[in-house]
Amino acid sequence: MSLTRALNIHDLRQLAKRRLPRMVFDYIDGGADDEIALATNSARFADYQLVWDALVDISEIDMSTEIMGVKTRLPFLISPTAASRLFHPRYGERAVARAAKAAGMVYSVSTLGSVSIEEIAEICPGPKLFQVYVWKDRALVDSIIRRVQKARFTGLVLTVDAPIAGNRERDPRNDFTIPPRITHRTALQALARPGYLFDLLTTPKIRPANFQDPGRAFSITNYLNEQFDRSVTWDYVRWLKKTWGGPLAIKGIAHADDARRAVEAGADCVWISNHGGRQLETARPTIDILPEIVTAVGQKAEIILDSGVRRGTDIVKALALGANAVAIGRAYLFGLAAAGEPGVARSIDILETELHRNMSLMGCRQLSDLEPRHVVRPR
Ligand SMILES: Cc1cc2nc3c(=O)[nH]c(=O)nc-3n(C[C@H](O)[C@H](O)[C@H](O)COP(=O)(O)O)c2cc1C
Repeated sequence: MSLTRALNIHDLRQLAKRRLPRMVFDYIDGGADDEIALATNSARFADYQLVWDALVDISEIDMSTEIMGVKTRLPFLISPTAASRLFHPRYGERAVARAAKAAGMVYSVSTLGSVSIEEIAEICPGPKLFQVYVWKDRALVDSIIRRVQKARFTGLVLTVDAPIAGNRERDPRNDFTIPPRITHRTALQALARPGYLFDLLTTPKIRPANFQDPGRAFSITNYLNEQFDRSVTWDYVRWLKKTWGGPLAIKGIAHADDARRAVEAGADCVWISNHGGRQLETARPTIDILPEIVTAVGQKAEIILDSGVRRGTDIVKALALGANAVAIGRAYLFGLAAAGEPGVARSIDILETELHRNMSLMGCRQLSDLEPRHVVRPR
């Protein structure tokens, strides 16, 4: 199957699987424990049914909106993901940032990104978010924030659903490390994917680009567990908001009380996420949580939702139920792994086309036409 024949995100996943050594594919594709949250995230969207308005003039569809204070052509954005050069060793985050810029959408980069803050800013001068974790080393976070400000990022995202790393069993089973370490198992997997191996061997070593890493291949679980501060509370959000000063999102909110706490602590955006089923196993699907969070803080803060989004109908449902925007993770990573920048562009194009088609079929000309009455969840 070629990229142009990939009709949907599931097809891109298949292409990614063919291109990547198993350990790398599994790092993207996998979830925590028995992967119940992972599976439920996407499956739950299907439990909601759509209702359309007939005979509406849909000759023009406008999908533009604002995300964290900036205008954007599309109501979905790139979610931050660690070390994207693992998935495409030559370009990694560069490919994603370029494709996002070309599509006029918001890009986010992870603290654990494998391309530097400054290089991302050069590639993507428009709207972009920087994601931070709760590190023990506040001086490190402070210095990163200064760089992010200097590079004119438009928003900061604090991820709070990963105080420790989730239990992703595919990774230790595959001897997965960053950068990939040569063991009997990984060597066999890599040899089976010569295109990837060539890129890996002919490009600089994959490592976090924004801070000093241990210098050796490390298991992401051990590394995060060493570096993250398990003692922090909402005061960290207040400190971060003061230090940063600009628009702040809290990513990984799972219920209305925490959404309220986030807003009280200074967040401008509540980002409902369970990290794509990679952290707490059997986490509640985000689409189920959305309505109570909209009721709690919808008038005071922006709401972004992610986890499990694979189809335009998933995006429509979240927007109709009150999200301002939807973030995508694996949906673009599969495209990146399949073919670099054109692959990410294909992911975005697939979701944009699906969203456009669905809004047309629903008789909704603009995002504000999408209302909760358009979504039904049969008991
Ligand atoms: C391979 C991978 C790495 C990720 N790394 C990060 C990260 O560094 N920071 C973060 O906040 N979220 C990270 N996430 C979570 C995503 O930002 C997002 O919440 C999740 O992928 C959404 O679920 P989906 O993949 O089903 O769309 C990662 C997700 C994946 C799949």
